[in-house]
Amino acid sequence: MASQLLFFSFIGLVILGATAYKSKQLIHNHEKIVPSNDDFIGCPTNNDFYYNGTINSPFYPYNYPPKDKCYYYISAEPGKVLKFTFSHFDLETCCDFVTIYDGPTVTSKKLVQIGGPGSNVTSPGTYYTTTRNAVMTFESNPTIQKSGFSMQYESVNTVSPCNRDIFLIVNGLSNVGSQANFEKEIKFIANQLTPTWNVGLDKVRVMLNLQTDIDYAIVWSADDVPTNANVTQEVLHMLEYVPDVTADNNTDLECLFRYAFDGLDDSKEFDERYGIEKVVIVFVAANANDDQDYNESFEFAHKIRTEQDAKVIVIGMGSGLDQTRLSKLAYASGYAFFSTSYDNLSSLIPKINNAICSGLNSQCGP
Ligand SMILES: *[C@@H]1O[C@H](CO)[C@@H](O)[C@H](O)[C@H]1NC(C)=O
Ligand SMILES: *[C@@H]1O[C@H](CO)[C@@H](O)[C@H](O)[C@H]1NC(C)=O
Ligand SMILES: *[C@@H]1O[C@H](CO)[C@@H](O)[C@H](O)[C@H]1NC(C)=O
Ligand SMILES: *[C@@H]1O[C@H](CO)[C@@H](O)[C@H](O)[C@H]1NC(C)=O
Ligand SMILES: *[C@@H]1O[C@H](CO)[C@@H](O)[C@H](O)[C@H]1NC(C)=O
Ligand SMILES: *[C@@H]1O[C@H](CO)[C@@H](O)[C@H](O)[C@H]1NC(C)=O
Repeated sequence: MASQLLFFSFIGLVILGATAYKSKQLIHNHEKIVPSNDDFIGCPTNNDFYYNGTINSPFYPYNYPPKDKCYYYISAEPGKVLKFTFSHFDLETCCDFVTIYDGPTVTSKKLVQIGGPGSNVTSPGTYYTTTRNAVMTFESNPTIQKSGFSMQYESVNTVSPCNRDIFLIVNGLSNVGSQANFEKEIKFIANQLTPTWNVGLDKVRVMLNLQTDIDYAIVWSADDVPTNANVTQEVLHMLEYVPDVTADNNTDLECLFRYAFDGLDDSKEFDERYGIEKVVIVFVAANANDDQDYNESFEFAHKIRTEQDAKVIVIGMGSGLDQTRLSKLAYASGYAFFSTSYDNLSSLIPKINNAICSGLNSQCGP
């Protein structure tokens, strides 16, 4: 749609200055903003729960006490989300209840309230969080006690290839060599790679950056491309933004990594979710111009990992690439993939998806 293209050409257009990067505070603590469980009877003193396990109501299978309130903080394995099931649920429906929040605090979105005032859910189903963390609370009133609940939590992936925020740095620079190569890159991303992902704001969240010049990029935030169809459509539109990829030969390697860093640093463009791992995929078509260009690329790749806690995946396209050197820009060995031909990019998909889902970040956990 032409109007939509025009629309995006305005709202999606972002020019990032060469030195416009700033440092960023990373928040990884599973913050508790509630009173300790010590104030209540039968609640666990250590109320941090990790990965997989069972949480029972106070004194289960015996009756829970009256006027109780317990808080349970639950974290999935890094890179996964939580699945909740109940093997036992026996509460005074009107007035005693369990609440699960989809996030690290009780101010996070409520996933479900089972029983109690204002709830129409009386028996539990299966629930999934959209990020790594959840809080569960249990409350009882002064009258009528029952046997309570036994709840199982598990670390799982709910989408293909896994729950991630992914920032694609698309190479629209003359170093891809020809418009035909650029088209192959675009069609690979639009029609082959991203269709293997369940794109969605609560699933695999995708952000796009089309680098068109050493100091110029067009950026799509996750809200601009909330579905697979939106991603495919907008990536294909990139062909219209770059009608002749060889028009500007003033490019380097560093700009791809600098824009990745800047994009991540700007929380509007990279609309990350707390508790979800971030992955940056950089499409590389040429070696660095010189040692200084390489060093600068390395510095930005390093800052993406250390300051922004994101994994960097390098995808090399075409022949003549220095694979050993370019691999060092990736998150770790095994996170750079090379295709010697633009016709052969699809063979990389299983390896890319495996890399997206493997490896742990440094978020909190035992
Ligand atoms: C947790 O459970 C999941 C799903 O059943 C399993 O894949 C994973 O290996 C378990 N993790 C641990 C640490 O036991
Ligand atoms: C409970 O209420 C919510 C909104 O208040 C509604 O979306 C949901 O369908 C209701 N569930 C049942 C089982 O009635
Ligand atoms: C996503 O695609 C749908 C269907 O083509 C369209 O209606 C919607 O406006 C698109 N969303 C965005 C944010 O572009
Ligand atoms: C950029 O380089 C390519 C390949 O060397 C060449 O074909 C093209 O004409 C150059 N473009 C400009 C604007 O100099
Ligand atoms: C690049 O980095 C290496 C290793 O830190 C250093 O030895 C070299 O002098 C640097 N080169 C340039 C051109 O900055
Ligand atoms: C395609 O790529 C794969 C993996 O990089 C490689 O093993 C294979 O030889 C390539 N095939 C062609 C025809 O280039």
